[in-house]
Amino acid sequence: MYPSCSFCLLGFLTLVSGFALNPGDSVTIPGWYLQSSVQAREDARKLSQPDVKTDSWHRIGPRSTVMAGLLQAGVYNESELFYSDHMNGVVLSDFLSPWLYREEFGLQVPPRGDHIFLVTHGISSKADLYLNGAQVASSDYQQGSFGGHQYDVTAHVRSGKNALVVQAYPTDYHADFSQGFADWNPAPPDNGTGVWRDIELKQTGPTSLSPVRIVTDFKTAPNERATVWVITDVTNHNNVPFQGALQGIIETDQDVGMQQRIPFSGNVRLKPNEHATVSLPVVIPNPQIWWPATWGRQSLYAVQLNVTTLQGTVSDRSRRSTFGIRHVKSQLNSNKDRSFSINGQSFHVRGAGYAPDLFLRFDINRIRAIFRYVLDMGLNTIRLEGKLEHPEFYDLADRMGIMVLAGWECCDKWEAWEYNPDSEARQWTSTDYTTAYHQMYHESAYLQTHPSLLGFILGSDYWPNEHATAQFLSALEQTNWTNPIIASASGRGSPPALGPSGMKMLGPYDWVPPNYWTANPQDQDITEWGTAYGFGSEQGPGVGTPTFPSLTRFLSPADLHNLWSHPSAGSYHLSPPRAGEFHTRKLYNTALFRRYGTPTSLEDYLQKSQMMDYEATRAEFEGFTMNQNSSRNGGRPAMGVIYWMLNSAWPSLHWQLFDYYLRPAGAYFGTKAAAAQGEHVAYDYVSQDIRVVNNHHQPTSGRHRDKRRVEVELITAADGKTVDRQVVVGVDETEPGASIPIANVADAVNQLSGVGFLKLLLKDSANGSVLSRNVYWVTKKNDILDWEKTNWYTTPVSRYADFTGLSTLRMASVLAHVNRKQTTEDGSTLEVALENKADIPAFFIRLTAVDAANRQEDEVDGEMAPVIWSDNYVTLFPRESLKLTVQIPRKDGWRMVMTGVNVKKSVVGRG
Ligand SMILES: *[C@@H]1O[C@H](CO)[C@@H](O)[C@H](O)[C@H]1NC(C)=O
Ligand SMILES: *[C@@H]1O[C@H](CO)[C@@H](O)[C@H](O)[C@H]1NC(C)=O
Ligand SMILES: *[C@@H]1O[C@H](CO)[C@@H](O)[C@H](O)[C@H]1NC(C)=O
Ligand SMILES: *[C@@H]1O[C@H](CO)[C@@H](O)[C@H](O)[C@H]1NC(C)=O
Ligand SMILES: *[C@@H]1O[C@H](CO)[C@@H](O)[C@H](O)[C@H]1NC(C)=O
Ligand SMILES: *[C@@H]1O[C@H](CO)[C@@H](O)[C@H](O)[C@H]1NC(C)=O
Repeated sequence: MYPSCSFCLLGFLTLVSGFALNPGDSVTIPGWYLQSSVQAREDARKLSQPDVKTDSWHRIGPRSTVMAGLLQAGVYNESELFYSDHMNGVVLSDFLSPWLYREEFGLQVPPRGDHIFLVTHGISSKADLYLNGAQVASSDYQQGSFGGHQYDVTAHVRSGKNALVVQAYPTDYHADFSQGFADWNPAPPDNGTGVWRDIELKQTGPTSLSPVRIVTDFKTAPNERATVWVITDVTNHNNVPFQGALQGIIETDQDVGMQQRIPFSGNVRLKPNEHATVSLPVVIPNPQIWWPATWGRQSLYAVQLNVTTLQGTVSDRSRRSTFGIRHVKSQLNSNKDRSFSINGQSFHVRGAGYAPDLFLRFDINRIRAIFRYVLDMGLNTIRLEGKLEHPEFYDLADRMGIMVLAGWECCDKWEAWEYNPDSEARQWTSTDYTTAYHQMYHESAYLQTHPSLLGFILGSDYWPNEHATAQFLSALEQTNWTNPIIASASGRGSPPALGPSGMKMLGPYDWVPPNYWTANPQDQDITEWGTAYGFGSEQGPGVGTPTFPSLTRFLSPADLHNLWSHPSAGSYHLSPPRAGEFHTRKLYNTALFRRYGTPTSLEDYLQKSQMMDYEATRAEFEGFTMNQNSSRNGGRPAMGVIYWMLNSAWPSLHWQLFDYYLRPAGAYFGTKAAAAQGEHVAYDYVSQDIRVVNNHHQPTSGRHRDKRRVEVELITAADGKTVDRQVVVGVDETEPGASIPIANVADAVNQLSGVGFLKLLLKDSANGSVLSRNVYWVTKKNDILDWEKTNWYTTPVSRYADFTGLSTLRMASVLAHVNRKQTTEDGSTLEVALENKADIPAFFIRLTAVDAANRQEDEVDGEMAPVIWSDNYVTLFPRESLKLTVQIPRKDGWRMVMTGVNVKKSVVGRG
């Protein structure tokens, strides 16, 4: 493999990378010169002759939409473009004409009978491809963001310089299969047009191999042996019969555990130009099983395969790919709600919806940080709604044990069905059905081996029609797809070939109070709710307020002022104006102003926002675990939930668990409080029960059950007086799926006249260690929902809970001490010991690790990210001590800043 210029052919006027290819080799085009077809003086065909001058073109990377390329080339500047509403000023007409991607490289004409292919993986929206003055693909066929094809270009290859031009056509979301952002954020000015995925050159002998696919007979662990079928499509490209051998090897990919190396082989005989699928069975004794994170190891195998001629020369070689031995199953339960199981164990989906970068830029280190956050919060799944990523994304998910629920996107061209009343897009033509087939085929072929795949959802808000379903299913079958296939992410309807999705998409998408989730509005006329039952494919309270250092990067002083003083103002960093309800934070702000009191400053507003965000996300995730085996909601237990959303495509004010700059805040720590602990103690805002729940999945079989102890304490917020104390001893260690009420605080909460703090501790009875700690702020009068006025994005509140007392708490004195625990190449682990010296509670203490290079001592401008905190935004009871740890990406040069609602802002440590 020659990922970049392996040798450079000399004697050219300009330095050109030369590819020395042998059969079985492939190379990625290392970068492009980019220019608008309006600026380029020649047409694409002429420009694809070698030695055309492209001095005035922009040099860009191999995977770059037009906007990504222009950013890389410095035509636009990200900080400026993302600031306030500046992106609105980009001249859209620049993107209404095709853009040209051009690259020159050296090649050798292959020996007679060998072939050179150009391999695409999707170009938005469609493209013509020219090599050395000849058109090798037309936009009639090379269509769609996910349309991957292989073109035999042997006849056009020259020894010496070659030039390739891709003419990418503008993307109209209504007409083309692309990656639209619907109401998530403003559309990128180019609508994502361009060569966003790699284009490769590949050389083969007379026959070529497709990427391998894997099918196993494995169902449940443990297992003494598994049969793995290694599947590949072998194509004879010549007009003479081919006879040869397939040889491959399966070996363990990891350093730990038993090493295994199993060779396998087979023969191939192909008629002239024949294409055949070969499935080679390989028996693996004592297979090492792949498990999701926290369930066990992410054991992977690697497979490689080659096809050789009878003379023993390699004709083609498949890329080394990794796979896992595991089995995913999905079915509808007796309520017709979707359930998943992995390796025979039930898998409760706790996930969130992923957004790629607005310009589809891809950085694996950023993805790694995002995945670490996912696991740190206790989530186990990421939903990709039509934003299917690069192979490295799935490789990393495989290695980190994160499940991926992939699928096509809502709206636009993808859902231009006659039965979709929201659709403004053009109905599918016969070409579109063919493109849809190719896109499904390509994605399935590349996703197929990845153990992280939980399933594929063929539609989002609407199900595909029967014709499209048939195309999709045929492509999935051709590529040996073995994972669940789901009609759509909503319960609106389904094609007969697939049956009901078992998923619901009933909102909310905007703010609802914490007691929404476990409410049981069965007695209302409407029978379907977004509350915690069944399988929610996308739902959440809309929150995700960034911290101040992030906000100042993308909001102007006027925007920042509007944020808290004009609660109904629209923002360019929310949904576009046409998505009316989500263009403002009105609903959220009304609740914030009413529940926490009118903000007195930006700082006050942001603190209150983090309080709102924390309780909003915690309540959703706790609702879904508390109801995981509930008989409420007409006996429909909660089967899984995808939080809306995990992250944002650009700096955004909503629908995220951490912000674009990877800074975790209230929404993150609320989620983490609910989901990260295996055994957990939680408060149900509706029944006022205290429940012990189990977020794990693996039964702790084979060992004795430990005893648990739960301590419940309710105090008044204003003076820290104990209102109630309950200690429940002898609680059995919980099993997966458990949700057990062990106490009730209704009477105690009823005694409150103002705000109270409810602290729940779940302890190991034998050694007293704390397994779960959870603090709520509660009032006697809860929020009251107006269920009958429920719409697709919220259930309004008719009376708000009153937490205004939290703004007048007396100051508590908190001691904090920071210790460095460990320093590694990547950073340090610090421990923060907190002690509340006061006889009143210290509310919502936030620790921030900042860059010591900041000018102002106590400012949090240089808030570091990514950071992994054991906990944050903590509330300490009178005289209580607590230790937090944090991993920061620095060895030194840090400062630790403490803030809190009734705690003086101070620097509590430095290193
Ligand atoms: C982009 O603009 C910002 C702010 O104006 C500036 O600090 C930064 O250096 C610029 N970046 C580049 C790559 O020019
Ligand atoms: C992007 O798509 C929208 C919606 O289909 C369309 O109105 C707009 O013209 C497109 N923009 C470009 C630059 O093609
Ligand atoms: C083909 O693959 C097998 C298994 O990896 C390997 O042993 C063999 O050397 C390869 N053949 C050639 C000619 O590279
Ligand atoms: C893989 O799919 C192809 C095409 O549908 C089929 O012919 C083949 O039998 C499948 N192989 C296995 C092992 O299921
Ligand atoms: C939920 O799980 C707990 C613990 O396994 C069990 O005691 C309880 O009966 C279950 N509830 C329902 C409704 O299945
Ligand atoms: C206490 O017991 C639990 C098992 O319930 C164990 O995981 C934990 O490590 C123990 N802690 C200490 C401090 O011994």
